[in-house]
Amino acid sequence: MDKIVIEGGRALRGSVAASGAKNAALPILIATIVAPGEHRIANVPYLADVSSTLSLLGRIGCPSLAEEGSKLMRVDTSRVAFSEAPYDVVRKMRASVLVLGPLLARMGHAKVSLPGGCAIGTRPIDQHLKGLEALGCTFKLEGGYVYGRTEGLRGAEMTLDMPTVTGTENIVSAAVLADGTTVIHNAAKEPEVVDLCRFLVALGARIEGAGTDTIVIEGVPRLAPPARPYRICPDRIETGTYLCAAAATGGDVTVTDTDPTLLGAVLDKLRATGCTVETTASTIRVAANGPLRGIDVTTEPYPGFPTDMQAQLMTVACLAEGESRFCETIFENRFMHAAELLRMGARIEIHGNTATVHGNGKLVGSPVMASDLRASAALVVAGLAAQGTTDVLRIYHLDRGYEDMVGKLQKLGGNVSRGEEGGKKGASAA
Ligand code: EPZ
Repeated sequence: MDKIVIEGGRALRGSVAASGAKNAALPILIATIVAPGEHRIANVPYLADVSSTLSLLGRIGCPSLAEEGSKLMRVDTSRVAFSEAPYDVVRKMRASVLVLGPLLARMGHAKVSLPGGCAIGTRPIDQHLKGLEALGCTFKLEGGYVYGRTEGLRGAEMTLDMPTVTGTENIVSAAVLADGTTVIHNAAKEPEVVDLCRFLVALGARIEGAGTDTIVIEGVPRLAPPARPYRICPDRIETGTYLCAAAATGGDVTVTDTDPTLLGAVLDKLRATGCTVETTASTIRVAANGPLRGIDVTTEPYPGFPTDMQAQLMTVACLAEGESRFCETIFENRFMHAAELLRMGARIEIHGNTATVHGNGKLVGSPVMASDLRASAALVVAGLAAQGTTDVLRIYHLDRGYEDMVGKLQKLGGNVSRGEEGGKKGASAA
C-alpha cells in the first residue's frame, strides 16, 4: 500500500486549480442512466471513486471513454443490460447506492448491495428507500442486498427526516421520470445536489427549487443527452483543503477554477483564524497573517460548515495559539484523525461529539495512518506544517477524492512524494 512522505515546515506559496467536484461527478455520471444515448461530461476529476463509478456503469452495460488529455468523459447509456450493483463494487464505494433511483426509473427494477457502514458512521439508507417507496417502489432486503421494483413511478409529496445528500439525489433522479409532480421537503441544499439538478434539467427534466429545502419535480416521459457537454462544478472540499494547507503552513495560496460562493462558511472560519481571505468570481486566496487564532466550529448541512472540512480545519486549529472547539453533528464517528494528530504532538480532548483542541502552535512529524478520505487529507496538511518528516500511510483513501494531490502540493513548494510503505521514497520531491 502506498504512503505519502512529507518533509514539513515549509510555507506553501503559489496557485493551484481546483478539479471537478467528486460528489457532483458521481451522481451525475450515474444519472446518465435515466437518459439513453451518448453523454459527454466535462471537468470530470481523475479519481479512484470516478473509476469505480465508470466500472459500475460498464458492468450494467454502459461503456465509457475518457477523451485523451481532456477531462471530458463519454458515457453511452443507450442500453442497460443489467440492473445490479454488486457487493464488491458497493463495499468499495458506498455512493454506488445512487444507482437505485435511476435503475428503477429506467428499468423498473434494481438489485443493489446494501452499502454497509464505513469508518465515519453506520450510513443507513432508510431515507432513500422511504422516498422511493413514496414514488411507487417496493423493496425487499435479502442477503445483504436491496431488491427494488416498480410497476411505474408516480409523483408524490414527501418530507425527509434529515436533509440527506445522496438520499435527495436518489429520489430526484427517479422522480424526473415519474408520472406527475413530486415535492421533496427537507431536501439537501448542497451545491452538488444543485449540480445534479442542473444536469437533469439539461437532459430535459423539469425541476424547481434546487438549492432550497423544497424541490419540486414535474415528471416527463423521457430524457435525452444534451447537445453540449455538461461541465461538473468545482470541488469546494478540495478547494477548502488547499486553503487550510496555506493557513497551517503560514503560506499564501490561491486556488483557481473554483467558486467562492460554494464555501462561504469555510472562508468565514479561515478569516476567524486571522488569515487574509481574498476572492474573485473564480479564485480564492488565503494568506497567513501572524499567529493563528482558535475557532469554534459546528458542522451542519449546507450552507453551514461542512462536515467534510472538519478534519482539515482541526489540523489548522492544532497550529493556532489558543483553544478551539469542534462539534460534529452529521456523523457519529468523525474524529479518527484526532488520534493521529495526537501522535504528532497535538493536544485534543474528545467528549462525545465535541473535540477541544488546545493549540500550541506546532506539530512534530511522525508516521500516521489514514482512516478515511478527509482524515487522510487532514494528516497531509498536518505533515506539511509539522517540523520533520511525516509518513501518511494507507493513502488509497486520499486517491478516492483528491486528484494529483502530490503534484499540486509540489507545485505549491511542498516537499512531498509518494512512497511504498516500508520502502524508500517515491517520485522526487519538490
Ligand atoms: C454525502 O454523503 C457525501 N458523499 C459525504 O461526503 C458527506 O460527508 C455527506 O453527504 C454530508 O455532507 C457523497 O455525496 C458521495 P447524508 P451521504 O446522507 O449522502 C444520515 C466525502 O468525504 N442518514 O447527507 O451519505 C447519515 O447517517 C463524503 O466526500 C440517515 O440516517 O450523507 C448521516 O448521519 C463522506 N438515513 C446524515 O444523515 C439515510 O437514509 C447525513 O448523511 C441517509 C442518511
